[in-house]
Amino acid sequence: MRSMTMVWVLFGFFVLSHSAAAAEGCVSCHKEATPGVVADWQASEHSKEDVGCADCHGSEHTTKHDIDRAKLPIVETCAKCHEDQVKQYRSGKHSIAWAAYKAMPTTHQLPSALTDGHKGCGGCHKIGEKSEEEVLKLKQSGSHFGHAACDSCHTRHLFSKEEARQPQACQTCHMGFDHPQWEMYESSKHGVRHKLKQLRIIPEHASAPTCQTCHMQDGNHEVRTAWGFLAVRLPLPEDEQWQKDQVTILQALGVLDPDGQPTDRLEVVKAADVARLDQEAFNKERNKMIGACSQCHAKDFAEAELAKGDDMIRRADHLLAEAIRVIAGLYRDGVLSKPEGYAYPFPDLLTFHDAPRPIEQKLFVMHLSHRMRAFPPSTATPIIRCGTAGALWCAISRRSRTWQRS
Ligand code: HEC
Ligand code: HEC
Ligand code: HEC
Ligand code: HEC
Ligand code: HEC
Ligand code: HEC
Ligand code: HEC
Ligand code: HEC
Repeated sequence: MRSMTMVWVLFGFFVLSHSAAAAEGCVSCHKEATPGVVADWQASEHSKEDVGCADCHGSEHTTKHDIDRAKLPIVETCAKCHEDQVKQYRSGKHSIAWAAYKAMPTTHQLPSALTDGHKGCGGCHKIGEKSEEEVLKLKQSGSHFGHAACDSCHTRHLFSKEEARQPQACQTCHMGFDHPQWEMYESSKHGVRHKLKQLRIIPEHASAPTCQTCHMQDGNHEVRTAWGFLAVRLPLPEDEQWQKDQVTILQALGVLDPDGQPTDRLEVVKAADVARLDQEAFNKERNKMIGACSQCHAKDFAEAELAKGDDMIRRADHLLAEAIRVIAGLYRDGVLSKPEGYAYPFPDLLTFHDAPRPIEQKLFVMHLSHRMRAFPPSTATPIIRCGTAGALWCAISRRSRTWQRS
C-alpha cells in the first residue's frame, strides 16, 4: 500500500517537473524565436498564475524541426479553465458568426483567401465557433491559424480583461458600411465622453457607457439584441402598413416566398438566431437594455429614446419596401428575367453585392448602408444629431422616389 503511494508521488513529481521543464524550454527558446509572444505572455495574468505555453499548445513540439506538432487552441482549449465564459459565449450570437456567414447563398463563390483565409468575411466571422472536424478540414486545405475565437477581444498573448473592456476591442469588426456601430458610437456623446476619459481630460469616474456597458452587462459573454442585424422580427408589427412593408422585406430576404409562404430559408434564419421569433424574446433583450440605460438616465427617457429608434425602422422600412416592389414589378412585367440561382423571379437581398443586376446592387446599398444608418439604436443617440440622419434620410428617400418615377 505504502509503496504504491510512493509510486504515485514519484509519478506526480515526474509529471509536474516534466511539464515545468517543458514550459521553461518553450520560453527560453521562444525568447529568441518569437520575443513579442513571450513578452505578452509574461505581462499576462496567465503567466502570474502559472498557465504556460504548454497549457494551450501542448508539449509535443520541442525543437524547431517539429513545429507542426504544436497544437493551436480552439474554444474547447479555453473551456478547460473558463467554463462559465464559454457557456455564455455559446448561448449568444458571437458563437454562431462562422455558421451565419457560411449560410449566405453567394459565400461559396468568393475566393477562399477572403473567406476561410480571413482576408475578408472570415477575418471578422472567425469570432464564431467551428467544430473540431471543420478545423481539421480547414487545416488540411491550408487555413492553419485563426480558430480560437476567444482571442477576438482579449487578444493573444496578453489575454487582458482590461483590454477587452475598452470599446476599441469591438472596433475591428463592428465598423464599415453595413454595421457602422463603431462610427456611430465614437461620434456620439457616449463615445466622445469615453474617449475624453481615456485621454484623462475628464475624471476617471465620469459616466460614459462603452459597448460592453450596454451589450456585455456584468461581463456576460452572451451577446444578442432585440432587433438584430437585419431589424426584422416576429410577431409582425400591429401597424398595418408596417406589417405589409416587413412582409415585403421578408420576401426579398427569401424567408417568405412571393406568395407570402415560409420557405426553407426560414429554417436557416431560425437556426442562426437571426431574428427574435416571439414577443417574449424581443422584450427580454429590450428590458435588459433599458436596465443598462437606467444606470445613468431616467427609465422613461430611455424608453422614449428606444421608441424613437423603432419608429425610424418603421419609416425606413416603408421606403425600402417600396423600392423592392418597384424591382419585383420589373420581374413581373418581364423587363427583368429570373437570374440563374434565384428561387423566384423576385429581388434577393441576401446576394449582397453579388446581386446579378445593377439595380439590385443599388437595392443592396439602400438596405445595408442607408437603412442601417437610418435607425439609431446602436448608440441610441448619435444619428439623430443634425446633419447625418438628414443626409441619409434624403439618400434613401430620393432613391425610392427616383425608382417610382422610372
Ligand atoms: C528549440 C526552440 C523551440 C522550443 C524549445 C519550442 N519552440 Fe515553439 N517554435 C520554435 C520555432 C523556431 C517556431 C517557428 C517560428 C516561426 O515560424 O517563425 C516555433 C513555433 C511554435 C508555434 C507556432 C506553431 C505553428 O503551427 O506555426 C507554437 C504554438 C509554439 N512554437 C509553441 C511552443 C511550445 C508550447 C513549446 C514548449 C512545449 C515550444 N514552442 C518549444 C522554436 C521552439
Ligand atoms: C491561454 C492560451 C495560450 C497560452 C498560455 C499561450 N498561447 Fe500561444 N496562442 C494562443 C492562441 C489562441 C493562438 C492563436 C491560434 C490561432 O490563430 O489559431 C496562439 C498562437 C501562438 C503562435 C502562432 C501565432 C503567431 O501569432 O505567431 C505562437 C508562435 C505561440 N502562440 C507561441 C506561444 C508561446 C511561446 C507561449 C508561451 C510563452 C504561448 N504561445 C502561450 C493561446 C495561447
Ligand atoms: C490551464 C488553465 C487555463 C487555460 C487553458 C486558459 N486560461 Fe485563462 N486564466 C486562467 C487563470 C488561472 C486565470 C487567472 C484567474 C482568472 O481570472 O480566472 C486566467 C485568466 C484569464 C483572463 C483574465 C485576465 C485578466 O486580465 O484578469 C482571460 C481574459 C483569459 N484567462 C482568457 C483565456 C483564453 C481566451 C483562453 C484560451 C485561449 C484561456 N484563458 C485559457 C487559466 C487558464
Ligand atoms: C472579430 C470580430 C468581432 C469582434 C472583435 C466583436 N464582434 Fe460582435 N459580432 C461579430 C459578428 C461577425 C457578429 C454577427 C454574428 C452573427 O449574428 O452570426 C457579431 C454580433 C454581435 C452582436 C449581436 C447583434 C445582433 O444581431 O443581435 C452584438 C451585440 C455584438 N456583436 C457586440 C460586440 C461587442 C460589444 C464587442 C466588443 C466587446 C464585439 N461585438 C466584438 C464580430 C465581432
Ligand atoms: C469588418 C468585419 C466583417 C466582415 C469583413 C464581414 N462581416 Fe459579416 N458581420 C460583421 C458584424 C460585426 C456583424 C453583426 C452586425 C450587426 O449585428 O449589426 C455581421 C453580420 C453578418 C451576418 C448576419 C448574421 C445575423 O445573424 O444577423 C451575415 C449573414 C454576415 N455578416 C455575412 C458576411 C459575409 C458573407 C461577409 C463577406 C462577404 C461578411 N459578413 C464580412 C462583421 C463582418
Ligand atoms: C466580444 C468580446 C469577447 C469575446 C469574443 C470573448 N471575451 Fe472574454 N471578456 C470580454 C470582456 C469585455 C471581459 C471583461 C468583463 C468584465 O468587465 O468583467 C472578458 C473577460 C473574460 C475573462 C475574465 C473573467 C473575470 O471575471 O475575471 C475570461 C476568463 C474570459 N473573458 C474568457 C473568454 C473566453 C474563454 C472566450 C471564448 C469563449 C471569451 N472570453 C471571448 C470580452 C470578450
Ligand atoms: C454609463 C452612463 C450611461 C449609460 C449606461 C447610458 N448613457 Fe446615455 N448619456 C450618458 C451621458 C453622460 C450623456 C451625455 C449627457 C449630456 O450631453 O449632457 C448621455 C447622452 C445620451 C443621449 C443624448 C441626449 C442628451 O440629453 O444629450 C441620449 C439620447 C442617450 N444618452 C440615450 C441613452 C440610452 C437609450 C441608453 C441605453 C441604451 C443610454 N443612454 C445609456 C450616459 C449614459
Ligand atoms: C448606450 C448603450 C449602447 C452603447 C454604448 C452601444 N450600444 Fe449597441 N445597441 C444599443 C441598443 C439600444 C441597440 C438596439 C437594441 C434593439 O434592437 O432594440 C444596439 C444595437 C447594436 C447591435 C445590433 C445591430 C444594430 O445596429 O442595431 C450591435 C451589433 C451593436 N449594438 C454593437 C455595438 C458596439 C460594437 C458598440 C460600441 C462601438 C455599441 N453597440 C455601443 C445600445 C448601445
